[in-house]
Amino acid sequence: MDGVIVRQETAEDIRAIDVVNISAFQGEDEAQLVTELRMSAAFIPELSLVAEVNGRIVGHVLLFSVTLVGEAGEARILALAPMGVVPSQSHRGIGSALVRAALTKAGSLGYGGIVVIGHPDFYKRFGFKPASEWNITCAVPVGADAVTAYELVKGGFKAGGAVRYPQAFIDLFKK
Ligand SMILES: CC(C)(COP(=O)(O)OP(=O)(O)OC[C@H]1O[C@@H](n2cnc3c(N)ncnc32)[C@H](O)[C@@H]1OP(=O)(O)O)[C@@H](O)C(=O)NCCC(=O)NCCS
Repeated sequence: MDGVIVRQETAEDIRAIDVVNISAFQGEDEAQLVTELRMSAAFIPELSLVAEVNGRIVGHVLLFSVTLVGEAGEARILALAPMGVVPSQSHRGIGSALVRAALTKAGSLGYGGIVVIGHPDFYKRFGFKPASEWNITCAVPVGADAVTAYELVKGGFKAGGAVRYPQAFIDLFKK
């Protein structure tokens, strides 16, 4: 989309990011998740990205660090959540711009791959595939088809395994 700037969040953006997530998800849970993750060891400042249009924050995506626990060992990978675009600006390519920027930035930081729980048809258009292809499982109550993954580095998911999420993320599914 023309006129959209995707960049790393700054301290001045935090309130606007809350507003984006509250309006996109029609509730406070995802905004609260971002607040909790920002204070945790899982937070990677370079991977909290905002979309700005005409100086206004209209979208946000967060990728945070998780551990993939497989039989062959553990790997640090990324989880993408949450991602939100304010309803008045949706279907204009802003979500797509956020995902593409996130893939580029995450690759440049050397992470092996990304898992996401969400609309699989949306993520597949960027090259995400069913996580089951790598034997990746997520211990949260969602259908297996909702879990997709993107390998940033060949072999980045090694032999697969279970994604160990921070408790704040798991709690989102208990509400
Ligand atoms: C999902 C979301 C981030 C997409 O942002 P966006 O700026 O509208 O995305 P784009 O314009 O790049 O792409 C739009 C496409 O996303 C897909 N999409 C959007 N919402 C969707 C939904 N609820 N279910 C499935 N696909 C969806 C559609 O394929 C849509 O295509 P269309 O515009 O031709 O209908 C935005 O709709 C949103 O914030 N939704 C509410 C929060 C949410 O569900 N976040 C994602 C959690 S995985």
